[in-house]
Amino acid sequence: MPDALDVDAVVAQLTLEEKASLTMGSGFWYTAAVERLGVERILVSDGPHGLRAQPAGHSDGGDHLGIGGSVPATCFPTASGLASSWNPEAFRAVGRALAREARAGGVAVVLGPGVNIKRSPLCGRNFEYLSEDPYLAGALATAAVQGTQSLGVGTSLKHYAANNQEGDRLRVSAEVDDRTLREIYLPAFEAVVTDARPWTVMCAYNRINGTYASEHHWLLTEVLRDEWGFEGLVVSDWGAVHDRVAALAAGLDLEMPPAVGVSDVAVVEAVRAGTLEVEVLDEAVRRVLRLVERSRPAMEAGGTFDVHEHHALARTVAHESAVLLKNDGGVLPLRPAAGARVAVIGEFARTPRYQGAGSSQVNPTRVDIPLDELSAAFGTGVTVDFAPGFLLNSVEDDDALLVEAIATATDADHVVVFLGLPVQSESEGFDRTTMELPANQITLLQRISAVSDSVVVVLVGGSTVQLSTWDHRAAAILNCWLSGQASGGAVADLLTGAANPSGKLAETIPIRLEDNSSFLNFPGDPGVVRYGEGVFVGYRGYDKAVVDVSYPFGYGLSYTSFSIGDVSASVSGSVADGDLSVAVIATVTNIGSVAGAEVVQVYVGDLESEVARPVRELKGFVRVGLEPGASTTVTVHLDERAFAYWSVRLGRWAVEAGEFEIAVGSSSRDIADQVVVSIDAPSVAAPLGVDSTLHEWLADDRGRELLSGAPGSGTILQDPELIKIVGTFPMSSLAAFGQMGWSRDQLDQLIAAL
Ligand code: BGC
Repeated sequence: MPDALDVDAVVAQLTLEEKASLTMGSGFWYTAAVERLGVERILVSDGPHGLRAQPAGHSDGGDHLGIGGSVPATCFPTASGLASSWNPEAFRAVGRALAREARAGGVAVVLGPGVNIKRSPLCGRNFEYLSEDPYLAGALATAAVQGTQSLGVGTSLKHYAANNQEGDRLRVSAEVDDRTLREIYLPAFEAVVTDARPWTVMCAYNRINGTYASEHHWLLTEVLRDEWGFEGLVVSDWGAVHDRVAALAAGLDLEMPPAVGVSDVAVVEAVRAGTLEVEVLDEAVRRVLRLVERSRPAMEAGGTFDVHEHHALARTVAHESAVLLKNDGGVLPLRPAAGARVAVIGEFARTPRYQGAGSSQVNPTRVDIPLDELSAAFGTGVTVDFAPGFLLNSVEDDDALLVEAIATATDADHVVVFLGLPVQSESEGFDRTTMELPANQITLLQRISAVSDSVVVVLVGGSTVQLSTWDHRAAAILNCWLSGQASGGAVADLLTGAANPSGKLAETIPIRLEDNSSFLNFPGDPGVVRYGEGVFVGYRGYDKAVVDVSYPFGYGLSYTSFSIGDVSASVSGSVADGDLSVAVIATVTNIGSVAGAEVVQVYVGDLESEVARPVRELKGFVRVGLEPGASTTVTVHLDERAFAYWSVRLGRWAVEAGEFEIAVGSSSRDIADQVVVSIDAPSVAAPLGVDSTLHEWLADDRGRELLSGAPGSGTILQDPELIKIVGTFPMSSLAAFGQMGWSRDQLDQLIAAL
């Protein structure tokens, strides 16, 4: 094996052309090599829930659309499923498994995880994203990156940033204000970059406020590197580069796949013409070389992985990914008596859907079939009858299938109906246009519920579907998302009680699509989408507008019950000293009769604020497993950021002194207990001036004192009705009216006295 590279020495020996070539890949999945200097190429592959490796020599040519094949790999639950576990350890374990498979396949960097926020339930790629909440997405993705990188394999945190829809994604400009970017769309990236130090970050395709992410100096350099301290490499999304020279100058180090003969030529010419500093190019080259170096130990050591162990892991994490939405009368778990007959209805039981389509599509090592797994779980004494009920490639009712399904369900001891989104309804590349299930599935459920009053629905799909039109027809609903190649076995375990559901929704299920705050502005107009709802995304929007939802963020049932109580919070340190810490303590008890896991969720809300803030925001959580009757105390530490908002005026995070409510519960709308804490902080109000309003002057101690003492103020200050009317007027405007008490000269004197 060649010696380790001396990066600076190599840079010094590279020709300009070689430097340009290194900042682009060589082929679809490889970086470029410079053999004469011992620079090897490395292989990168998708993706977040399983490897999609298409190494050189693989029979299908490279593609990033999920068209060609890839080497067999374990397909784990996709992000919307795994995120429902609220379990960083599950992400860490899957991250490590991905690294083992990557090492075995010579893959140096795994292209994931994706932490884009689920702004709308319709985004076609929601199955690949984690949550509508940036704190949750950041915490889970941090563990994923740590898991993979702990075994010497790199990750690529994507798609940076504001890539929240598939429609028009290659050119659309996300028009989003600074505060919303900082509070909603950037924090998950920030958390992963600062806590897990991903080796690479992948820029998004889209534009942000008019500038392509690939050319966005503020995003790629000022925020990512200067503020967050990112030291890794920035890679383009596949085909996201439009102007290679502008992209290099903005901080994009590696273009994938390479536009050979275009980008390299442009870079060489720009350096020769003096429009691109060679130091910028050198720095990008250094980052590529360091990435190659970093991956060398794991790539040289290689490794193998145990297909069966990884399948077993896929099954365990699929248990944790399922969310039990409803379980009326404890219809689940199913415990059919000997001689009982179970009707299993729905094509998905026989033809499972377990992953999404596009660049993350995995070629699984094996696939469990739910129907077979259920039959095996029930054993020989129980009869399982199956009827498909509907066609997957149609929304039309099929009378013959309906008749067969009704006959199968009639007089069955238990009825399980598999419903969900067929493959053609969600994918990378396009957005959904409706949240509804195909009409033929709703008809099927309606007919089946007429012959059975305890229908169990197993729901599959990578995004939320509208339940409000049909959930009353089901006694139980188990939302299994797209839970990977072992989901068939996992669903059998969950339905029979061999595993206890513990998932919690990482995204709200609204009653209607129209209730979602992005509804008016999604997917926008050609080339532009306005993030008009600002920070009120997901539950922040439903809560602020006091809109009922079908199932709230954070919600999920179990076969046992928990109580959360004894909530207290103690404040130490201070904002002024930069060491504020609030310890939130709660007790959680398993008050049911089987072992299970609960997620204790901590939300913070500012009771009074200068800016519009969400009612409450997730700022911490702990998942605990408890035996029946067992109890434990959990502590969540909140820092200054948990109380802060992004002040556009100050250009930084700011905490307003005052009272904050800390709510602890089992979902965003099941708050077990809440406490109010008082946080002291230096004033973040704008300094008083001529443009400050009368209200602002009166709200300030010194301002009020000066005004009260000013000649002529008497009339207005003693007239509350008048203050109400003119209180929002700037002082300069009041002075200009001439009759309000102060002349412009007097106002200037007041300001001087301040
Ligand atoms: C996707 C990325 C993916 C890349 C390579 C792009 O189309 O947006 O997520 O990593 O292709 O397959």
